[in-house]
Amino acid sequence: MILDNLTNATADPILSMSVACKADNNPNKVDLGIGVYRDEQGHTPLMQAIKMAQEALTQEQDTKVYLGLAGNESFNDVMMDLLIGAGASRGRAVAVQTPGASGALRLLADVIKLSSPDAKVWLSDLSYANHAPIMKAAGLQVRYYRYFDPKTKLVDSSGMQQDLQVAKQNDVVLLHGCCHNPTGADLSFTDWQAVTDMAQRQGFLPFIDIAYQGFGQGLDEDIKGFRYLAERVESYIVAASCSKNFGLYRERTGLAIVVGKTQQQSNAIKSRLLEIARTTYTMPPDHGAALVDKILRTPTLEQVWRDEVTYMCARVNTIRQRLVTALQQKSGTHNFDFIGQHRGMFSVLGITPEQAQVLRQEHAIYLLDSGRINVAGIQERQIDYIAEKLLVVGKTS
Ligand code: LMR
Repeated sequence: MILDNLTNATADPILSMSVACKADNNPNKVDLGIGVYRDEQGHTPLMQAIKMAQEALTQEQDTKVYLGLAGNESFNDVMMDLLIGAGASRGRAVAVQTPGASGALRLLADVIKLSSPDAKVWLSDLSYANHAPIMKAAGLQVRYYRYFDPKTKLVDSSGMQQDLQVAKQNDVVLLHGCCHNPTGADLSFTDWQAVTDMAQRQGFLPFIDIAYQGFGQGLDEDIKGFRYLAERVESYIVAASCSKNFGLYRERTGLAIVVGKTQQQSNAIKSRLLEIARTTYTMPPDHGAALVDKILRTPTLEQVWRDEVTYMCARVNTIRQRLVTALQQKSGTHNFDFIGQHRGMFSVLGITPEQAQVLRQEHAIYLLDSGRINVAGIQERQIDYIAEKLLVVGKTS
């Protein structure tokens, strides 16, 4: 019979860990798994700007009638302004609202497959746990370029550039706009310049995944590298998320941006994205996009939001620095100083999957097998415990 052939799927490493951590009764448990921001009480608060926008929408909104296949076009425009700014490529940019950035990644992967069935997508090694599954589900071939240097725990710039030498017209190179997931090791501005040169010379398509704008060094600072590239390459595509910097996680608010060689080409690709959306989910959920649109189009709300992002960013950077200091003091070494050079929510610690398992099972510290910790989820009172157990596990295994 038709449904008799399926066994259990492999569980998603990030979401299944979130479930396991919730089910753990240990009062000392520490959730360093899924990428969410938490305050000192361990709570992921509704942002003030979102609350204010929600109140305004409650007053103003008088219909829930369908929008269109592209979702909220006003949101699409204002998000393109936020990401691309007033640069020249903005004139050829089109966007489609999507259910989160994962939705954008899939829609864009589908359109790549449609246009170029043999295309290869190059991912950083390591990359976001959902990148390869999405690209493969769309039928694309996946290759990896060297990225995270296990010795320095920073970007292996020369390895990356060597590996990308072979990427040509039929290749897509996926880059993290900022706050690299999972490693926390970001491209320097010089790295962005080098990749831009390569894209111009070799003709590959840059595919930017940007989900953490504002969590590295600030909203504007974090996209300098991306904007440098955006103004110089012929074409690029972007998957962007409002989950983290608007705290809209469950509202699934994202967008797919396409910048073709010409406006006409961008429009044709947009029509294909809409065709794919229509045969998948028709149109994205509206609420999150309506809130973001309200915030970014109301100067007072935008300022409240910018201040909140600045605050969250500063808090994550303080926690990051305190973790480094605790590790320095307890180990008497500088072996973990690299964590201070990482940016955004995450850091990969360079521990083995077995060590990660010991941390979970014996010390209730939930981190991914890749050694990724969500720094943005740490409470100050947990720092000593985390540092202590990291050193214990490092010594005994
Ligand atoms: C993460 O990497 O933890 C987040 O982006 C959540 C997700 O959707 O995987």
